[in-house]
Amino acid sequence: MEPSTQKLIHTFGALADLGQEIAGTGDFSEMVRTSMHLLLGTLALRRGAVVECVDAGPLRCAAIWGLGDQFLSGFEIDEAEKKVFLKGDTAEFLVRNTKTSNIFINRHRDQLVHEGIELVLPMIVRSEVTGLVLLGGKASGEEFSSEDFDTIRAMVRHIGVGIHTHRLLEQIAQRAEENKRLYVELRAIYRDTVRAFAAAIDIKDKYTQGHSERVGKYSEIIAREMGWSEEEVEGIQIAGYLHDIGKLIVDRDIINAPYNIDAKSSSELNRHPAAGYEILAPIRHPYADIPLMARHHHERLDGRGYPDGLKDEQIPIGAKIVSLADSFDAMTTDRPYRRRRSFEDVVRDLRENSGTQFDGKVVAAFARAILKEVTGQTRERRIAKILGKGYLEGEHVATLLQDLIADLELPQKAQKAS
Ligand SMILES: [Fe+2]
Repeated sequence: MEPSTQKLIHTFGALADLGQEIAGTGDFSEMVRTSMHLLLGTLALRRGAVVECVDAGPLRCAAIWGLGDQFLSGFEIDEAEKKVFLKGDTAEFLVRNTKTSNIFINRHRDQLVHEGIELVLPMIVRSEVTGLVLLGGKASGEEFSSEDFDTIRAMVRHIGVGIHTHRLLEQIAQRAEENKRLYVELRAIYRDTVRAFAAAIDIKDKYTQGHSERVGKYSEIIAREMGWSEEEVEGIQIAGYLHDIGKLIVDRDIINAPYNIDAKSSSELNRHPAAGYEILAPIRHPYADIPLMARHHHERLDGRGYPDGLKDEQIPIGAKIVSLADSFDAMTTDRPYRRRRSFEDVVRDLRENSGTQFDGKVVAAFARAILKEVTGQTRERRIAKILGKGYLEGEHVATLLQDLIADLELPQKAQKAS
């Protein structure tokens, strides 16, 4: 085989290797190093460097071989110098060519000669100089041939594209990270705004301070116990905070009436779930179904609730959870005309009204969550903390809950079996 044919085959092989290296998903600096070694190996060169132009100023070394560590110190490039690299044939990039119009080479000639660099080629991608490849020390001692130049230019183009792609990927990753941060921040702002709203709702009702916040927390605990995803749990907490937002349009005197209210006032008060829906529906919430949970938090399984008289399956599960959380808070907090009910009494109410007012599955989940706190299965005692000292204490509490759970889960099992 002719030596020139052999060389050609070798060059093609090197180019194929280079393409594979650049397309690989491995480490970036490893890619540049290997690419440079392929280039040096193909041309039998003793030294070389791949440097990146990051804006104007000092050059950043991406790979170096056969040159001292301090090689790059003092090498800078400015915008005008970058531009001259965009034009000219290879002879313009030869260091020994004192007639070259390349101002970068002319400015650094002494240093380049001192380091044994003979050729400085630009890496050009989309008409921009992304970096330089510096080469020197041909093992044969010969001059660069025009075939050498062709090979070098092809390989340098490959490396340039590799570096450019890497930069793009880096930028995309940075932007994705930034977007993620903004998204998290936006959610936090949304949550804070919602909590401020919840506080505003509760201020209107002087007897139920903190009601919305508590309903949010109970709803979150129930949903988590029911195996909802973290995202859904966050959503229902928000729904809990906002469920009574419709009360903002109800007359303060009606909300604060200390005793039973007349039919007219009662129907005025009962407008609040639908009004809440109207307020929340135009807002783009980062969670699903918040307006619907507000609308249906006074529906009952037997269809005797309001505003739409929905029945069991028609009521969104989130609204069922908020409804239970809402009633539980109403039963376990003092009102001006009555003290809060004992836990025993509350459990009795939940048992009696499961299947008519409340969904048994939801009540059972809440009971399980409370039982876990009572028996010490969960370290955090969030429900107990809300209810205050003494309320969930005593041996009967665990028994009450276990009996309730057993009663509620039995018919479900029987139903599933049939
Ligand atoms: Fe309500």
